[in-house]
Amino acid sequence: MAQKRSKNARKILILGSSGMLAADLIKVFREKEKYKITAWDRDDLDITNEEAVNKKISKLKPDIIINAAAYTAVDKCETEFDKALLINGYALRFLSESALKIGAILVHYSTDYVFNGENSKGYKEDDEPNPVSSYGQSKFVGEQMILLAEANNYGGCGGCALSRGKCAKAASKIKPFKYYLIRTSWLYGHNGKNFVDTMISLGQSRGLGTELKVVNDQFGKPTYTLDLAKKTREIIEKNLPFGAYHFTNETGKKGISWYDFAREFFKIKKIKVKVKPVTTKEFYGADKTRLAKRPKYSMLVNTKLPRARDWKKALKDYLLS
Ligand SMILES: NC(=O)c1ccc[n+]([C@@H]2O[C@H](COP(=O)([O-])OP(=O)(O)OC[C@H]3O[C@@H](n4cnc5c(N)ncnc54)[C@H](OP(=O)(O)O)[C@@H]3O)[C@@H](O)[C@H]2O)c1
Repeated sequence: MAQKRSKNARKILILGSSGMLAADLIKVFREKEKYKITAWDRDDLDITNEEAVNKKISKLKPDIIINAAAYTAVDKCETEFDKALLINGYALRFLSESALKIGAILVHYSTDYVFNGENSKGYKEDDEPNPVSSYGQSKFVGEQMILLAEANNYGGCGGCALSRGKCAKAASKIKPFKYYLIRTSWLYGHNGKNFVDTMISLGQSRGLGTELKVVNDQFGKPTYTLDLAKKTREIIEKNLPFGAYHFTNETGKKGISWYDFAREFFKIKKIKVKVKPVTTKEFYGADKTRLAKRPKYSMLVNTKLPRARDWKKALKDYLLS
């Protein structure tokens, strides 16, 4: 049965709707009558098709466009860089221009992998990205497409010699580019392939006494997609200033390693496997499909949003819900 919607419901378009984060975004926004959701997967709209993006979005006229579409296979991005660049990078120009044209808010997600991972203190919102993988590079291009659209919006007005930013007459006519660029990291959720589920099914299928090697020299912050979806809704509802945000579950300053993460979820699920900490070098040595370089320290430091809930609490919720 269709849910009752208020007459003035805000129209939200969610792109990449069969993805992991998208599933929770759809769930979270559907909880409230004040939103009318349209969810499009790749068959409904391929975000790399400029003409289709422009045409379909202009026709639908959403108030908010949430882009959860991406090419997230980090290792495959090394051999399919053109594809990654198009989906994670250039498509953001098409989406930004469409959002600008209809005055919609654009919400987009980026990643800790835009940073090189050499800073053991982690990365703040305005730290300079310097990706070390093709996936990171493609996502960084996406960020730049958004910033470029914003800059172009305030570019030459065409009518006089002053730039739009300085020409009061032109400036008064400009519709500002309303965007939220939310970086996140180490996502897990109920509707997609992720580290937590992969390791748990490995542990369960191999049984008691199994030894699983897990990397212990990459540090970051895991994030439950449901928490990120709720935070996205909150950012919109609180009309927070447009711009870049970092959102992850909280681990403390040092972050955690994949080994710490694995130990915790096996403990919560009471699965008796031996988890052996290994270095990235030891781990990759055995797996030739692991092509992409990963940042050593990729903790996203959140200086703008209220502190998120602790990673262990979020993980417990995920595993026991
Ligand atoms: N997963 C993580 O650990 C992680 C970490 C940091 C940041 N992020 C970012 O968070 C966001 C959500 O990630 P996620 O893990 O939820 O992604 P996901 O599960 O891989 O979902 C991405 C969705 O995008 C769709 N898609 C791919 N190319 C498309 C295209 N050209 N047009 C339309 N849809 C397309 C995919 O469809 P198909 O299945 O048909 O390809 C898929 O349903 C992404 O921006 C990602 O970069 C993720």
